[in-house]
Amino acid sequence: MSVIFTRSSEALFHELAAVPRPVKFYARYGNPTVDRVARLVAEMAGADGALLTSSGMAAIFTTIFALTGAGDHVVVPSQAYGETLELFEELQRFGLSATYLDEMTPAKLTGALQPNTRVVYVETPTNPLLQLTDLAAVVETCRDHDCLVVVDNTVASCVNSRPLELGVDLVIESGTKSMGGHSDVVAGSVAGRKELLERIWWPQVLLGCVLSPFDAWLLQRGIRTMPLRVARQNHTALVLARALEAEPGVRDVYYPGLASHPGHQIACRQMDGYGGLLSFTVDGDFEATRRVVEALRICTYAASLGDVHTLVMHPAAGWWGRDFTPREAAHVPGNLLRISVGIEAAEDVVADLRGALRAAG
Ligand SMILES: Cc1ncc(COP(=O)(O)O)c(C=O)c1O
Repeated sequence: MSVIFTRSSEALFHELAAVPRPVKFYARYGNPTVDRVARLVAEMAGADGALLTSSGMAAIFTTIFALTGAGDHVVVPSQAYGETLELFEELQRFGLSATYLDEMTPAKLTGALQPNTRVVYVETPTNPLLQLTDLAAVVETCRDHDCLVVVDNTVASCVNSRPLELGVDLVIESGTKSMGGHSDVVAGSVAGRKELLERIWWPQVLLGCVLSPFDAWLLQRGIRTMPLRVARQNHTALVLARALEAEPGVRDVYYPGLASHPGHQIACRQMDGYGGLLSFTVDGDFEATRRVVEALRICTYAASLGDVHTLVMHPAAGWWGRDFTPREAAHVPGNLLRISVGIEAAEDVVADLRGALRAAG
């Protein structure tokens, strides 16, 4: 837990402090517990190393802050986690320009790349609409450009997807989700090659968005059961998605494991499992959707994903007491429900949703 480390002489103390990325100097620079868990995260991602941050957003911000500056350009998906989109809008105040793509196909990406493009930012699958991006194709398209491909892998998690194996430069994950798994720790990670992490580490020290040793320990506790939890969630989400597809009160189901999903073939190629997150539209309006939510008995109405409990959100109802930006609003129809399946019995989760849809219909 310690922030500081001492030695009996000034010379010995300087030995502690003088190593690259010291873990026994001052905890904003590093800490042995945090370092140990960072190595674990790196190993899971197939990376040289990883930095742990105080949240997933901190990982995204620190990475983009470190790799870009005024006059630079980034390519960003127009549909992704709402606060990520908002962050890229904020960064434009500092002279960063962005091109938003509704899908990152090689043709669209080629058209968007500029000589000053420094980062191509991808989220796959996206939250909340589970849009897939072909990472190998993005890497290939960016090969002759002086830019880095950064992927938010939160929804898939490193159990289901390891973008670095496909040639991506950096992979970001919100540790708050599947890694932590119990909604009792807010954390983030960025993993990749050592030289890139060196560039991100110092801005992280300056920003101070480090993970506390206690939270790193909680993250490690979560990681121990992560493969078991994620395997269970993969199974339940597929069972649930198929059941919802057959349900008369449901219009569209968004889940990469369904053959009907436009990204299914990409998911089959680049994911080991389809993940625990799915969304669907109720065959009705905002009010009908609200009634479904209120009829649920087992699923919990709460933000976040990757928890041991099944979490349901009605995105159009808002979740942080502010209006959506136009970019977000375009992607959250009033009848959309997002489900992050937990580790309950699949038949209980299916029965709860089926019962709620029928009771509200
Ligand atoms: C895809 C995705 N990326 C990043 C984040 C941000 O993570 P955190 O809440 O840990 O900052 C979230 C949070 O929901 C997310 O869903």
